[in-house]
Amino acid sequence: MTFEEIKQMDTASAMPTYARYDVALCSGSGATATDEKGKTYIDFGAGIGVNALGYANPGWAQAVAKQAATLQHVSNLYYNPTTVQLTDTLVRLSGMGAVFMANSGAEANECALKLARKYSFDTYGSGRNEILTLKNSFHGRTMTTLTATGQDALHPDCFGPYAGGFSYCDTTLEAFQNAVNDRTCAVVMELIQGEGGVVPLEPAFVKQVCAIAKEKDILVIIDEVQSGVGRTGTFFCYEQYGIKPDIVTLAKGLGGGLPIGACLCAEKLEGVMTSGTHGSTFGGNPVSCAGALYILSQVNDPAFLQQVRQKGDLLKKKIESFRHVKSVSGLGLMLGIELDAGIAGAEVAKRCVANGLIVLTAKTRVRLLPPLNITDDEINKGLAILQSVIENFE
Ligand SMILES: Cc1ncc(COP(=O)(O)O)c(C=O)c1O
Repeated sequence: MTFEEIKQMDTASAMPTYARYDVALCSGSGATATDEKGKTYIDFGAGIGVNALGYANPGWAQAVAKQAATLQHVSNLYYNPTTVQLTDTLVRLSGMGAVFMANSGAEANECALKLARKYSFDTYGSGRNEILTLKNSFHGRTMTTLTATGQDALHPDCFGPYAGGFSYCDTTLEAFQNAVNDRTCAVVMELIQGEGGVVPLEPAFVKQVCAIAKEKDILVIIDEVQSGVGRTGTFFCYEQYGIKPDIVTLAKGLGGGLPIGACLCAEKLEGVMTSGTHGSTFGGNPVSCAGALYILSQVNDPAFLQQVRQKGDLLKKKIESFRHVKSVSGLGLMLGIELDAGIAGAEVAKRCVANGLIVLTAKTRVRLLPPLNITDDEINKGLAILQSVIENFE
């Protein structure tokens, strides 16, 4: 198919929910994608942080293909050895009590929100059900996770009424203290607000929130859908904040490119979601779980994670030296580039794509979420394009 044919078919058949670039990606290897004409792109986006080991990683592809050829799906009314290996691995590596397998970040967060309310209901009775989230956060596109998202721009009237029982606060201790009340059952935080512009929360703020929450038995839910699975150079970003959440959610990089989500909870919560209180037809799908098991076998390794930190430091240092770059935020391979006033991240991304480099945006910033195993050669090629695009602005 030509690009024009692909685009025309998409326009005629798909809901126009995405502002797509004029590019159709057809294949890939490592951190390099190829379009229908054979043009290659260095990929600093990894499908928005999904392709943890890049495109068509041989070990991952083999694990997935083997599972697809053995048992592609089984109802959650039955056990299967692949899914249970993943749940066991996730629980062991996190030191949490139990996990619920979902299919996406929003679904993992839905489980977290239901779990928090049920724990509070079971423990304290009705009425203590308010969930506090942070301004500038992003937690998903389902009705409830959209409500949880602390951005007015994502709450247009056309989707109302939104779910009740949510409130939003600024990322200051004072704002948090003012927002907490006797009805608060949980607080949700992304430690680095990804969609919000790669904005890390202050460690002191996070620690204070956790201390107050612990004192009042308010559950701390950490949304690691974007920052988890090694993205920031530790398996969970929260390790670098020195906290232990009650609930943590994962998705994106976990499946290496297959739809999957996970909601992990601390031991005290492991029995809360009893039979019939939650479920999913596809959650824990063996093919996605086989992909995830392979990802964990590679990523949950100190040497691999150290490389993520080193690559991130290198990218940060080099990009900070580019003309027009004001600052670079983030940790590991989750980076946000703040540009001089008047240079829009979206325009940089457009020019990068035209020059063979895929980057992401978040608010006004350019956002980078490359595959975690990106090679030095791919980093250098991508950086050369990024530098010439950014420095070419007047
Ligand atoms: C922090 C965070 N939470 C939740 C989501 C929603 O994940 P999904 O698109 O898989 O539903 C995202 C997606 O960008 C995210 O970045």
